Amino acid sequence: PTSYASDSNAGAFPLHRPRRLRRTPALRRLAAETTVRPSNLVQPLFVREGLTEPRPIASMPGVLQHTRDTLRKAAAEAVAAGVGGLMIFGIPLVKDGTGSGASDPEGILQVALRDVVAEVGEQTVVIGDINLDEYTTHGHVGVLGPDGDVDNDASLQRFAEVAVAQADAGAHVVAPSGMMDGQVRHIRAALDRAGHQQVAILGYSAKYASSFYGPFRDAVESSLTGDRKSYQQNPANLRESLREVALDLTEGADMVMVKPASYYLDIVRLLADAVDVPVSAYQVSGEYAMVEAAAKQGWIDRDSAVVESLTCLYRAGATVLITYWATEFAAKLPR
Ligand code: PBG
Repeated sequence: PTSYASDSNAGAFPLHRPRRLRRTPALRRLAAETTVRPSNLVQPLFVREGLTEPRPIASMPGVLQHTRDTLRKAAAEAVAAGVGGLMIFGIPLVKDGTGSGASDPEGILQVALRDVVAEVGEQTVVIGDINLDEYTTHGHVGVLGPDGDVDNDASLQRFAEVAVAQADAGAHVVAPSGMMDGQVRHIRAALDRAGHQQVAILGYSAKYASSFYGPFRDAVESSLTGDRKSYQQNPANLRESLREVALDLTEGADMVMVKPASYYLDIVRLLADAVDVPVSAYQVSGEYAMVEAAAKQGWIDRDSAVVESLTCLYRAGATVLITYWATEFAAKLPR
């Protein structure tokens, strides 16, 4: 860093006054090193099979399980707000052991992807999440082996089927979130074989076993008991993320993700410095719920807390910010 002339004359007024550049909103805007744009934001949306009215999610105030119809409207609103992408999660009526709804062309997510792509075309990026957990009776991300643990390699086959089904339904990007070894390679190969060479893969590469996914599990009516610590990363580890990301990039990932976001800014910065693809950060359901809950009590100022959290993710090196506040805050970001 620059070295500054020292104040030899003890007791004199300061020679250097960094506050000059903070004095007015105009000076602060001019001196801002980072500005988040609406196009950096990705809005996750939930759609539930068989709903006739949208249904609120108690642990995520302001977030809805959509009907097919209100999902289309939410997608159109996001586009009007300039949001960069949509990530869509389906909640099926019926679950089974292998999560067959996840790859069924008539499964809720595939139907919803077709609806949304028909609505928004290529005005924004439509992303599907590749995972079986919303569709399985046991709530795990993959299929279970005889020992009751997730069977890595059998799950890869299912992920490949899910990826092709989502690409067939029009997804522009697919995002494998299961943390199974080799998933990106398997999915890339299946997409290419099916003629979907142009569909990109956003790897949930550094996905940690986090308590902050709690409200999401309500949102998708997860049947999981237990945890995902045998496949998602240990929050104690930083260098392990480098390995996961290197593997995903070798296997063909086009973008990588850190999840959760706010407690993991060291990982975001590490990856942003290490890789040559866009880094995304997923501000998860628990991060959303904490801010909403504290704001409801009047303990923090909601809007400024949200803008601060997004700005800090961007400053740490994430250029794709997945956040439940995307559509609303696209218009509230500093310009
Ligand atoms: C897996 C998935 C999860 C989230 C996104 N994709 C849940 C999990 O891994 O347990 C969590 C998102 C959030 O908490 O907002 N389908």
